Amino acid sequence: MPVLRDFFIALSENQLLNKAAQKYGLKLGAQSVVAGTNIPEVIESIKELNAHGISCTVDVLGEFVNERSEAIKAKEYIIETIEAIHEHGVDAHISIKPSQLGLKIDFDFCYDNIMEIVGTAHKYNMHVNFDQETHDLLQPTFDLMEKVSETYDNVGTVIQAYFFKSNEYAEKYKNYRLRIVKGAYKESPTVAYQDKKDIDLNFIEIIEYSLLNCKFTSIATHDHNVINHVKQFVKDHNIPKDRFEFQMLYGFRKDMQLELAKEGYNFCTYVPFGSDWYGYFMRRLAERPQNINLVTRQVFNK
Ligand code: FDA
Repeated sequence: MPVLRDFFIALSENQLLNKAAQKYGLKLGAQSVVAGTNIPEVIESIKELNAHGISCTVDVLGEFVNERSEAIKAKEYIIETIEAIHEHGVDAHISIKPSQLGLKIDFDFCYDNIMEIVGTAHKYNMHVNFDQETHDLLQPTFDLMEKVSETYDNVGTVIQAYFFKSNEYAEKYKNYRLRIVKGAYKESPTVAYQDKKDIDLNFIEIIEYSLLNCKFTSIATHDHNVINHVKQFVKDHNIPKDRFEFQMLYGFRKDMQLELAKEGYNFCTYVPFGSDWYGYFMRRLAERPQNINLVTRQVFNK
């Protein structure tokens, strides 16, 4: 289904549609995979997941910001979210997208914004994950994380297995808390595997490396074959459960999320919320066109 994938990824990057979507609240079935548009709603969603023994990583939706004022607004809202997580005493940490905080505008400006966020989270002993986005932002995001880590230790990032060099990145950043994913964006064949089989193989290789060598590994996937492989691998290598967790996105494979938590694995749900849901939602359709059912169900009210 590469044509459909490209189609939805192109839609996800359409700025006009993105702006239009912000005006109309959660539509097109997005409410199944986006945990509300404001802080009180997301806190309720976190409480529900916590009640099942699931912790959360919270993403204030927004990306590819081109105006300083928008980046500052995003920073302030993320800080408000951190304060709310702390005040409500829920089990959650934060995921940030550097492009939302001005990485496309200016590195130092983005660094200053992120320092405020990480500093606030640090007061509450809260982890901050630097999500990885497109290839042009990959090295700057690693650089930002390294620079912030000169002051604060509550940071980690993502390794996207579709990049040829991701094994090197896993090795280089093994002293950070790492989330391993397949990779969600459309990347050039000069830098990334295009074939699903190659990506899956590299994904497993990096997960195994990380489980054996890294400080803490988040295995972020909905792929049951990978999850079953990991369960066997950790058993065979006596890797204790406090060295890793499984992660899935909010609203996806809910039964499996509950089951893994019930089996005693650390489980963390990625909980996106906010009015800027459009790009995130379109990428989810690109990954799994079956998710279009979410849209049709909503449109036909079934
Ligand atoms: P994939 O989509 O390859 O599916 C494999 C198989 O699993 C399918 O063929 C099907 O059998 C089964 N399956 C998958 N979804 C299912 C469903 N909903 N219901 C039933 N069966 C299903 N990317 C990125 O570039 N940067 C980032 O920072 C992040 N962060 C991130 C956090 C978290 C918590 C997750 C889960 C994912 C990300 N990603 C990401 C996205 C990631 O790179 C990837 O695009 C998606 O997770 C899709 O790949 P999967 O590994 O889930 O399986």
